[in-house]
Amino acid sequence: MSSNANDQDAKLVQVVREAYSTIAKTDHNEAYSVRVANAFGYTADEIKTAPSESHMGLACGNPVANASIKEGETVLDLGSGGGFDVFLAARKVGKTGQAIGLDGSDDMVAKARQNATKQGFSPPHVAFVAAQLTEPLPIATSSVDCVLSNCVINLLPPPGKLHIFREIFRVLKPGGRLALSDIVAKKSLPDQIRDDLALYVGCISGAIQLHEYKGLLEQAGLEDATFVATGSDLNVYFTEKTEEPACCGTAPPPSSTVPEASFDANEWAGKYLQIKKIGALLMMSVEIASYHIYAVKPDDSSDITQPTPSVLLRWWDAYPPARCSPDLMSPSTLAEMIRIAELRSGHGYLVVDVRGEDHAGGHVIGSVQWRAQSFYDNLPAFLSAYGHIPKVIFYCGRSNGRGPRCAGWYQDYLEAQSITTSQAFVLEGGIVRWKSDPSTQDLVEFDTASED
Ligand SMILES: C[S@@+](CC[C@H](N)C(=O)[O-])C[C@H]1O[C@@H](n2cnc3c(N)ncnc32)[C@H](O)[C@@H]1O
Repeated sequence: MSSNANDQDAKLVQVVREAYSTIAKTDHNEAYSVRVANAFGYTADEIKTAPSESHMGLACGNPVANASIKEGETVLDLGSGGGFDVFLAARKVGKTGQAIGLDGSDDMVAKARQNATKQGFSPPHVAFVAAQLTEPLPIATSSVDCVLSNCVINLLPPPGKLHIFREIFRVLKPGGRLALSDIVAKKSLPDQIRDDLALYVGCISGAIQLHEYKGLLEQAGLEDATFVATGSDLNVYFTEKTEEPACCGTAPPPSSTVPEASFDANEWAGKYLQIKKIGALLMMSVEIASYHIYAVKPDDSSDITQPTPSVLLRWWDAYPPARCSPDLMSPSTLAEMIRIAELRSGHGYLVVDVRGEDHAGGHVIGSVQWRAQSFYDNLPAFLSAYGHIPKVIFYCGRSNGRGPRCAGWYQDYLEAQSITTSQAFVLEGGIVRWKSDPSTQDLVEFDTASED
């Protein structure tokens, strides 16, 4: 493929991301969202169980309804938006299963995480991860029982569509299944529509025909493709909310965040009515329709691997990246603080070991252990226990991963609440340097009973 086509595809992905970020930040229209959810087969009970902001009128089906999700399974939702399908899946898989949503828009992911918190869901049971579907997914191979997606595949550029089906094949367990809802073109759409960026963001221009869909699924190795028309009236997108454009796109991207060359916000705004009209016309002439699409990964696949210890390749993807980069503290500075504190029996500092299974073999004397993997979710408890301590020093093995991450999250949390009584630091070189440095070796404590 030419670099020009690559550039155009990358631009499309960016425009879509910006548009859906804007939607994530736009005021929620509950009546509209409920109407769309009803139209696509979600039950009143399902709608009631999740925060209303988790469904934003962006769906084009209910992929969870017929995915036969069972307790204990791992479910992955691609393009998870506000998280509605993930929450429905989470209820079905129960505490022993996992429901993970991936989305390319940081704002959507932030919104889904907020919705999860409202529901009392947290990782690893329910996790939302920022990831581009046009790139390798941050998900372990052969780790997922069921992949869901709702009105997203049409938004991927042509090579991205094949790429995601190949990735779905990779992450599914042998015998695993794909259940998605998408907009499908019943005829080849005219170039005028294909080339229209606003209609693309609105889930129309990127729709492919059933035979193309089938071909891509087969190329990726997925079998038994089944297509079932939802029979839903897509005009639900065009009712009442007159300022809305077509289909699943509901707001223009802000001109400030979208590259000028690829998207003109004025053009978008001017096209609202045009988009509505074209969308309605397409539907009237039955050129696009929403479908439920199913396929399976054959059970005889040769890539059978050991059960994966973790579905997410990086556990920290389930949390926002830390914005702050706390200062380093040298071992000699900390050692001095520890010795002075011993003399004065006063503690102006706290040392926090965020290691887990690799904890054995000694720790900084007097340190407390808070595992990195659950640290973010426990920030309120950590703050209430230690928020009065001026210097909080985090470390892990070499302090180049978990230590700085937890320190950053703590500092972010302090700053978000304008708390200045406490400050995060990272112990330079972690426990490895601490144990090898002659000036700190005597400050290693062994506690075999509590060390795992
Ligand atoms: C039409 S919305 C559907 C949202 C959700 N599935 C629902 O039914 O409410 C499409 C979603 O896919 C995400 N998306 C679009 N293109 C993407 C890409 N290339 N990578 C990751 N996410 C993408 C958008 O950010 C958006 O949240």
